[in-house]
Order: sequence, then C-alpha cells, then structure tokens
Amino acid sequence: MSHGFQTRAIHAGQPPDPRTGAVVPPIYQTSTYAQAAVGQPRTGSGGSAGGGAPRGYEYSRSGNPTRDALQECLAALEGGAHGLAFASGMAAEDTLVRAACRPGDHAVIPDDAYGGTYRLFDKVLRRWGMEWTAAPVSDPDAVRAAFTPRTRLLWVETPTNPLLGIADLGALASLAHDHGALLVVDNTFASPYLQQPLGHGADAVVHSTTKYLGGHSDVVGGALVLRDRGLAEQVAFHQNATGAVPGPFDAWLTLRGIKTLGVRMDRHCDNAERVVEFLLGHPAVAEVRFPGLPEHPGHKVAAGQMRRFGGMVSFRAAGGEPAAVGVCQRTELFLLAESLGGVESLIEHPARMTHASAAGSPLAVPADLVRLSVGIETAEDLIADLDRALSGG
Ligand SMILES: Cc1ncc(COP(=O)(O)O)c(C=O)c1O
Repeated sequence: MSHGFQTRAIHAGQPPDPRTGAVVPPIYQTSTYAQAAVGQPRTGSGGSAGGGAPRGYEYSRSGNPTRDALQECLAALEGGAHGLAFASGMAAEDTLVRAACRPGDHAVIPDDAYGGTYRLFDKVLRRWGMEWTAAPVSDPDAVRAAFTPRTRLLWVETPTNPLLGIADLGALASLAHDHGALLVVDNTFASPYLQQPLGHGADAVVHSTTKYLGGHSDVVGGALVLRDRGLAEQVAFHQNATGAVPGPFDAWLTLRGIKTLGVRMDRHCDNAERVVEFLLGHPAVAEVRFPGLPEHPGHKVAAGQMRRFGGMVSFRAAGGEPAAVGVCQRTELFLLAESLGGVESLIEHPARMTHASAAGSPLAVPADLVRLSVGIETAEDLIADLDRALSGG
C-alpha cells in the first residue's frame, strides 16, 4: 500500500534500528567498515543507490547507512526509483550534468536561473565543453526555439528564482523528449510536498536540500532523484568517483528536517499568502510576484501542478533600487541573508546578493527586486516588520 506524503517523510528508509530498536536512524559516523574476508564486505546495502546489486559497506564515500536512509526517503518523497544525496545542491547539479552529458552537448537553462546554476554552466561546464542557451521557461515556444541538434538537457526551475515564473512541466517534458533531451527540474523552491515533477514527465529532480527539505538553516546539502536505472547508475558512479557526498551528520540533520516538511510547508504557504495580501495594498510596492495570485501569468499552470503556491514572495520597490536596498536593511525579523526555506524569515536583494554572479548577463535580475523567504513565525509579526521597513522607519 502506498502511504501519504507525511507518512513517507517520517518512515521511508527509516525502519527502527535492527540492533537496538532506535526509532531514529543512527548517525554512522565512520569512514570505513570491517570486512568479513579479503574483498568481501559484510552484508548490507552499501553502494546500492545507483540501482545496482546491493553489496556490503566498504568505505563511506561509496556508501554509508545514514546517507542511504536519506537517499531512500528522498526517492520516496519525489516518487522516483533512485535517490542520491550530495554535499550541496551545486554538487548534485555538477554530478548530474557530467554523468548525463558529454563535452559538445548543449543545455537550455532558465533565463532567470539561480545564479549559481548559471555560474556552473557558464564558468565551469563551458570549459569542459558544454554549451548553453538561456530561455524563459514559462514560454514553451521560446524554449523550443532555443533547442539545437546537440541539446541533451532542458533545465527548469519552477517557480523560478527569484522572479517566481512558472514552467508547464508536462508541456516541457514532451518538448524535451521530442528532441531526445532530458527534462531536469530544480524543485528546490516548491519542495516535494508542493510539487513532484517526475509525475509530470521529468527525468531528474534536483534539490538544494539546504532549503525547505533541511528546513532549519543548519545544514548544506543537495539531492538528485531519478526514474531511469541506467542514468542512476551513471550518476552513482560519478557520485563515488568525484566524491561530493554529505557526511553522516549532515545526512541525519537533513532527514530530521524532512520529518516535518509537510507541516512546515503548509505554514510557509499560509504566511506567504498573508504577506502577499499585505504587500498588494502598500504604496511603496510597485509589483508583487507570487504564483498564487490569479493575475500571475503562470497561476493556472501552477494550480495544476502544485499543491499550494509556496513560501517565496518577490516584489519590486516603487522607489527603485535604493528603496529596495533600504527595505532589506531595515527589517528586523526578516533577517538580511542569502538562502531560503528555513523556519526563519529572510530578506535579500537578489541583484547584489544571490544573483550578483549573473550581473551584465542575459540572466541579470531587476535592481528594484526584493526576495522574501517567508518563515513560519507569527504572521502578524512578519507583517508589522515589513510595514515598518517599507515605511522607512
Ligand atoms: C534554486 C536553487 N538551486 C540550487 C541551489 C544551490 O544549492 P546549494 O547552495 O545547496 O549548493 C540554490 C541555492 O541557493 C537554489 O536556490
């Protein structure tokens, strides 16, 4: 019987410890494992993440039981066959591209991709021989026009970071597959509670687990969830060969965060909706970007593929860049910081912070834009904080 989301978040990959009955997976803080005989690891599931035959644990870069618990849980949350955990979201992205592509291949990426994703493609993977074209992923015709005969990946974020555009996952999956390409979805902003891209035809899901999955701003990590066994084996090979794996404690912290993902996300969504309602009526706000608004151009698509509309809100300051920077510096509860998805609310100026690496490129973001990661504090306090900051006092 398949379980509901919150049941999977709490139990998938986490049966009671067979030795002690501990209800929480132990932190296997070990680098290596005693073997039964020369070249014969003891029984276990080490190194099986790529879908190959399970074998015993040998060495914690190749496999670790705490990481395996996380990987199994991630796969169950996204409805995929194979989950792999990484030291960061960027490590997951880099590993996926190198496993799925060859030098000379081409990728279509969002024209407002996360700045680090843009930097990876432009400054690292380009030197390796990958080409890329940026396209607005909310416009399937523009995406189609960006394909070349060498396109191997269509890379999508939805909602996008930081402009909160929406991509139609089903339409883009068909488009990618018609061109012999893979659809990769960075699902960091939605989290698997709100959106499960594999169910809409995506081939790979990427996460910065640093964000909503971890949820407490206390751990950096990344994940890939894949449907195809061959690709999963390639990725698992690269994961071990290049070694950007999370340590056991980081894997454990992420698992611990995941247990409350559903309840946290509902509260993030409630609070974001309250904040949006407040911002819409404020004279210092020129435009609010939130896919839950009926006038958002991607609202219908978002409603069809997301459970709710998320905890991220962006707005443009009526007073331009100086006003946007000023608001970011005046809030007290909304902490001025990069990152997102933790229980505490954060505010940032994307053009000078998270997306500074995209300045002067086709991916540059508006200078008057402010991005909020709405936390799970008391909504009235968050609104009062924003009101004070927007009013200049
Ligand atoms: C949408 C998105 N994808 C990927 C990443 C990269 O993840 P990490 O910082 O864990 O390497 C981030 C980080 O902010 C992000 O916002």
